[in-house]
Amino acid sequence: MRITVKQQVLLAPATILFLLILLLGFMQYTYWDLSSKRQEAKAIGTTFIAVAEADMAARRLHVLLRTMQHTGMAAPEEMALVADLYERMLTSVARVKPFGPLKESGHISHLLTLAENLNPADSPEIEKTAESFALFRTELSTLSNITQIYRNQLRMSQDQDINQLVERTATVSMFVLVLAILLGLLISIYFSRRILNRVQMLSHNAVRIADGKLELPPAPDHIRDELDTLAVSINRMTKRLITVVGTEKLLEGAEEERRRIAMDLHDQSLSDLSSILRGLQNLPENVNDQETQEKTRKLEEDLERAISNLRDIMNNLHPQTLDILGLGAAIETHLEHHCDSDDLPEYNLYIDPEVDNLGLDRLKQLALYRIAIEAIQNVIKHAAASRYEVNLEIRENTLVLSVEDNGKGIPAENRGADGRGLNNIRERSRAISAEVNWKPSRFSSGTRFELVLNCETLSLTETA
Ligand SMILES: Nc1ncnc2c1ncn2[C@@H]1O[C@H](COP(=O)(O)OP(=O)(O)O)[C@@H](O)[C@H]1O
Ligand SMILES: [Mg+2]
Repeated sequence: MRITVKQQVLLAPATILFLLILLLGFMQYTYWDLSSKRQEAKAIGTTFIAVAEADMAARRLHVLLRTMQHTGMAAPEEMALVADLYERMLTSVARVKPFGPLKESGHISHLLTLAENLNPADSPEIEKTAESFALFRTELSTLSNITQIYRNQLRMSQDQDINQLVERTATVSMFVLVLAILLGLLISIYFSRRILNRVQMLSHNAVRIADGKLELPPAPDHIRDELDTLAVSINRMTKRLITVVGTEKLLEGAEEERRRIAMDLHDQSLSDLSSILRGLQNLPENVNDQETQEKTRKLEEDLERAISNLRDIMNNLHPQTLDILGLGAAIETHLEHHCDSDDLPEYNLYIDPEVDNLGLDRLKQLALYRIAIEAIQNVIKHAAASRYEVNLEIRENTLVLSVEDNGKGIPAENRGADGRGLNNIRERSRAISAEVNWKPSRFSSGTRFELVLNCETLSLTETA
């Protein structure tokens, strides 16, 4: 199951909150139970009083009616009193509430019928009146008894209930609170340890990679959360880094090989050719044969050209000026020796004097040198320019190499598919973590090639 880190962090407080809401629900239910019992007790009290009042009114009404029936006459105020008493009796009966055993029993409806039968307006005979009153009051007394018994029962059970309720509420609250705290603690300990362990492992792996120990860190088989995504990303980043470092090592190895070949050529072939040249130059000059003299001079010239070509090849294989004079001077020497002629475009060179103080290592210097030479060669070969500028300058913690011409610009069809030279430039700059781009030149036409190398780390190591 996929649980995000956010969910893992929120799980413990959410569990505690859920249990507390359950506890609140339980307390609400308890309160509701208690209040419904209170309502019932109130209904019993009202009924009890209503029955007593109805009985009292019935008794007075009966006495008054009997007196009136014996005398056979009734004063108007007595009539009014009879009507009032009957009215009070009816309202008292109406206040009798149906509760507990009374709800289904039919006592209340029977009482109402009996009360209606006692209406003095019907003026019944003396015997019938007495009988009806007796029946009515018996029913009232039955109701009173039931109410009394039920009230006692309820009071006892209510006391018991309240005790139980308090006890139950306290136990349940205690249990839920302890459960919430324990569960919250366990969940948060479990998930925080899990997250912490994995974060520690990721940071440990990242530190190892930053320290240059390029072992592939483990990657999870399937993604469960953001930390797994991060672990997979670190794994992929390391893979790419291993490839880049591999390329860098390969380039370094290739440069080392070129340097060795240049040294071999110098120590072996160049010195052999030089000694042959010296031998030729030391041939006796008194050879009369004109033809032989001509041939010897021709051989000497060929040999000098071969030696000069060999020096070019050696310099191309490994520019010695770079080791001796540094990057700026090596580029300058190359331009002076190979690009300074009338049939080639005119150039302008600016090298920031601070470049030599940057502390660039040999591999970076070599890469920058070769990139500059390739960019210059491209101007000469492809741009059809009349002039170009080569700049190597430091701009806000970056080293910027630019070669800008006023030629025809890179043809649209060549922009996507790079040739070998442009590919080499990209690969070499990637190996030294520099960025390159080609954009329109600031001249009216042409191309501006630019390489930007962040030298913040270089200056740091220098000052460290
Ligand atoms: N400064 C430039 N001006 C015009 N076109 C250029 C320039 N630099 C490169 N190009 C174009 O890019 C193509 C690829 O260059 P590159 O990879 O160096 O190949 P090449 O080995 O032929 O020099 C060239 O054929 C050329 O058309
Ligand atoms: Mg090229």
